[in-house]
Order: sequence, then structure tokens, then C-alpha cells
Amino acid sequence: MSNVKILSPLDLKVTPVSNIKKGISAHEGREWLDAKRPDEYSNRLEEFFFLNDNKITHKARHYFDIYHRHFKKFCNTEAHIVELGVAQGGSLEMWKYYFGSKSKIYGIDFNPYCKQLEDEQTQILIGNIDDEEFRRDIVKKIPQIDIFIDDGSHHVDQQINTLKSILPYIRKGGVYLCEDISYRETYGGGYLKKGTFLEYAKRFVDYVQGLYPLYGPIIYKDLYSVCVYNCIVVIEKLVSGDRRPMTSGLKELDHSYEVSEEEITKWKKDRRQHE
Ligand SMILES: C[S@@+](CC[C@H](N)C(=O)[O-])C[C@H]1O[C@@H](n2cnc3c(N)ncnc32)[C@H](O)[C@@H]1O
Repeated sequence: MSNVKILSPLDLKVTPVSNIKKGISAHEGREWLDAKRPDEYSNRLEEFFFLNDNKITHKARHYFDIYHRHFKKFCNTEAHIVELGVAQGGSLEMWKYYFGSKSKIYGIDFNPYCKQLEDEQTQILIGNIDDEEFRRDIVKKIPQIDIFIDDGSHHVDQQINTLKSILPYIRKGGVYLCEDISYRETYGGGYLKKGTFLEYAKRFVDYVQGLYPLYGPIIYKDLYSVCVYNCIVVIEKLVSGDRRPMTSGLKELDHSYEVSEEEITKWKKDRRQHE
């Protein structure tokens, strides 16, 4: 933390407001481009973003659909939403608008100036997420986590450590979303590179199948799904662990069918070829 330069939200380097056309600009590198305002909004997140003339937030065009797909069941509920990475507070405003007044919003940032963005619905925790003790503190201070959004530094080490510390504490049916996943070396990324967030997330394909007793930590026994999108990974927790195979119906037709030795030999051979 000592070598980190702390800026006020107002000092943060952003494109001058005069260059931003009514909150509907998108940026790529250092260039600002006009982003077309949709004729109709697909959801309230998009609506907020394209009409926003207040605090700045940067989002990729395809993120709104992904958020809405996984977050919509929490709208107008008392859900607790936690976002790592507050910056100027634009996304916290977006979550409040989307989830409604019953929700509780938490922001996490190491920039102490972000504390000013607190209000009756929003609590800001100041600390360095790279610090293990602070991560332990988060789950003590936040009584329930329904949704956790990692929009922090985007460095792979931070993404993995945050996931490991927070995911076990997400409630049943809750959602963990890590965004802005990158292959860029500056973030520690790289194609098939060991230690990247994406390589770590690939293990969850097996954990969801129930392979945790053999290959994964027991803390991952309650996973419902892992969804990989462009730049985003979403992990959902099970609502119910009931996975019993079941049968429905009273009538049974006789389709009995004996598998021949020949077929069994062929299947075994096919399987060996695929192993
Ligand atoms: C991409 S910005 C967040 C943008 C915000 N979610 C939005 O959409 O408006 C990333 C934020 O993460 C914070 N951050 C970076 N590294 C951090 C760390 N180690 N601990 C806590 N916050 C950190 C930065 O201070 C910055 O405000």
C-alpha cells in the first residue's frame, strides 16, 4: 500500500467531460468513440448506462446482458451486492438503480477518498484486497453476500486470491462475477499461461460436476454453474444440493435391449482412443 499513489475520485485520470457526449461514449485505449444509444434498452442496466449524466463508469457493450442474465432474480429484493473497485462510484449508482431501494450495496477500494461516496444504501470498505487479512475482514464485516463483482485491478493474482477468499462465503443461489479478464501480460495474463485467472477458472468445470472430493477443495462442493463469456467468468452457487435421479410416469413399455459383447468391446476401444 505504501507505494500506491492515492488519488481523490475527482483527480482520477478520465477523459475531460467536454469530450464525453452525454454519457454515451465508449473508449478504446485513449480514443473516445461515439457509442450508439439503443432505440430500446434490453434491461435497466443498459437504460441507466446510456442515460447516465452523473458519475462516470466504464463498461464493455456486452456486459449488460451478462449482468442481467445472472442478476435479475435479485432485483427488488433485499440482496446484498458487493463490488470490488469503486473508482468514481458510477457502477455503484448503476447497481442501486438496477437492484432497487431494498438492496444493500457495498463497495471496496483502497482509495480512501471513495469513502465519500457512502450513503444510506451504500457502504464503502477501504482497504487493500491484496492483503489477506483485509479479505478475511470483508466477510466478517459484510453479513451476507448474494452477489460479488470483481472489478478491481484486473491482475490475475488479485482475481484468484479474491475468488478463493470470497466464493466460499457467497450465499446459496448467489453469484460471483469476475470481469475484465485479460490475456495481457501487464495483468499477468497469457494464453494457457499457468497461474492466470482463466486457467484457474477452468478447474471449476470439474468442480461443478462434483469432482471436488477427488481433485478440488471441499469448499467448492456447492457450485451450480460456471459460465465463461468474453472477458467475464460467472460462478453460481447451488440453491439446493438435491441431484437425485428421478423417474416420472406410471407406464413402462418393454424396450429391453441386450448390449452385445461386440458393442461393449467397440465402446471400450472408442473410449481408449479419446483418453
Ligand atoms: C476499474 S476501477 C472500478 C470501476 C468501477 N467499478 C466502475 O465501474 O465505475 C478499479 C478500482 O479498483 C481499485 N483497486 C485496484 N487495486 C485495488 C486493491 N489492491 N485493493 C482495493 N482496490 C483496488 C482502484 O482504486 C480502482 O478504483
